[in-house]
Amino acid sequence: MTPPMTPLARFSALVEQRLGLHFEKGQWRELEPLLTERSARSGVEGYLALLDTPGAQAEWKTLAERLTVNETYFLRHPAQLEALVSQVLPSFSRQTPHLRVLCAGCSTGEEPYSVALMSRERGLVDPARLRVLGIDVNPRVLLHARRACYSPWSLRSVPEPSRERWFQRSKEGFTLKEHLREQVTFEERNLLQDAPSFWAPGSFHAILCRNVIIYFPPEVTRKIIARMARALVPGGYLFLGPSETMRGLSDEFELLRSGDAFYYRLKTPGAAALPPPIGLPVTPSQVTLPSLSAPPPPPVPVDGLEEVLMALEAERYEEAWTRLDALPEGSRPQGELLRAVLHLNAGRFAEAERAGRQLLAVGSTEASAHFLLGVCLEQSGDDAGARSRYAAAARVDPTFALGHLRQGTLARRAGDVAEARVALRMAVSLLPHEKPLMLTLFGGGFGRHGLMQLGLRELQACMEVR
Ligand SMILES: C[S@@+](CC[C@H](N)C(=O)[O-])C[C@H]1O[C@@H](n2cnc3c(N)ncnc32)[C@H](O)[C@@H]1O
Repeated sequence: MTPPMTPLARFSALVEQRLGLHFEKGQWRELEPLLTERSARSGVEGYLALLDTPGAQAEWKTLAERLTVNETYFLRHPAQLEALVSQVLPSFSRQTPHLRVLCAGCSTGEEPYSVALMSRERGLVDPARLRVLGIDVNPRVLLHARRACYSPWSLRSVPEPSRERWFQRSKEGFTLKEHLREQVTFEERNLLQDAPSFWAPGSFHAILCRNVIIYFPPEVTRKIIARMARALVPGGYLFLGPSETMRGLSDEFELLRSGDAFYYRLKTPGAAALPPPIGLPVTPSQVTLPSLSAPPPPPVPVDGLEEVLMALEAERYEEAWTRLDALPEGSRPQGELLRAVLHLNAGRFAEAERAGRQLLAVGSTEASAHFLLGVCLEQSGDDAGARSRYAAAARVDPTFALGHLRQGTLARRAGDVAEARVALRMAVSLLPHEKPLMLTLFGGGFGRHGLMQLGLRELQACMEVR
C-alpha cells in the first residue's frame, strides 16, 4: 500500500497541476514556509481543500505572485530578437495587413516592449501594423508591465542612444514613451488553461515563450507547445529560451538557425506554397544544445562549482542557489563570488554589494568584486561611482574585457569620449579572449558575439563624435 501523501507533497502537486511549476522533492522546503503562512487561518487540510475548489481563484493569483520567477530585462537574447524583427516579421508583411506577436510568460513587459522597440529601430515593418501581446499568470508583474517604468538594471543591455530615444528619465526610473507602449497590450492568462478562442488557429505569426517552460514538467510543456502550434499561422515561428528545447516534446516544428539565434518554424503540409523558411534548417546532429552564446567551451573554473555555473548560465537561478548551498565550506572564495552574482541577478543589490565588499576586504577575486560593485552602483543611478569601479576592475586585471567595456560605455555616456575610445578599443580587442567564466558571471545574458556587437556599436558612436 502506498503511504498517503504529506501535505507538502499535495501542495506541490496542486501547484504543478494549476500553475505548471514543478518542484522536485528536494525543493519542497522552499514551499514549506509559504504553505505554513497561507494556511495559518484555515489549517493545512482546510487550505488544501480550498485550493482544489473553483472559488480559490484569488488565492491562486497570490500563489502565482509568490511562486513564479520573473527575471527578465530589455533586449534579452538579442540574436533571437534580431532574427524576429529583421527576418521573420518582414517575411510575413506582404501577405497580411497585421502582424501579431505573442510573448507568453512576458513578466514585467521588457520582452514584448523589446520586440516593439527593436522593430522600430530596424524599420523593416510598419509599426502601425505590428501588435504585440504579452500574457502572464502573475497579476503583479502585469501591473508593472502596464506602468512601463523601469530601473536602470532592466535597461542594462540597452545602448545609450536607444535609452534616450525610447525612454523618459524621471525620479522613478525610465518610462517607456507612449507611442511604443501603444503597440503592446497585456493580458492575465495561465498557459495551462485552454481557451479555444484565444488559441484559435492562425492567431499569431510568432510566439516567444522564452525562459518559461524551463519550470514545467515535460507533459505540461507538451500540451502548451501543441496549443501554440495550433495558434500559429501556417509556417509561423516559435522562439524558446536558449536553455530550452523542444526535443522529444513535439514534432510539429523544424529547428532553424540564423547567426547566433535558434528558433522553430511550424511544419506545414503543402509548404511549397509558403515563403521559404527564414534561417537555415538545423539537423539533429548539429544540435547539442540550442545555445545562443558564441563558441566558448563550458567554463570549468573550480572543482565542485561547475554545476552552479551551468545552472547560472542557463538562468536556472533556483537550482544554482540549491547547488551553491550544498557546496562544502572549502569552495570559497569562488562560491562567495557566485553567491554575490546570484544576488545581483535577482536584483538584491544591497546583498550583492555587501558580498562584493567582503570579497574586496579579504583581497580575493578583486577584479570581479570591483565589477560587481560597479553594477550595484550603476543600477542605483551612480554612474560616476560605477565607472570608477569598472576602471578599477580593468586596472587590477588588464585582460578583463567586460571591465573595459562597462568603463567605456559609461565614459561615453558622460561625454568623456577620449577615455571611452581607449576603454572600448581595449574591450573589443580583448572580448574574443575573455574567459567563459567572466562572460557567464557578468555578461548580463549576452554571449561573446552579443557583447562584441555592443562594444562595436558603442565604439562607433564614439567615433561619430568629433
Ligand atoms: C523567467 S520569466 C521570463 C520572462 C521573459 N519571457 C524573458 O525571457 O525574459 C517567466 C515568466 O513566466 C511566467 N509564468 C510561469 N508560469 C506561467 C503560467 N502557467 N502561465 C503564464 N505565465 C507563466 C512567470 O510569471 C514569469 O513572469
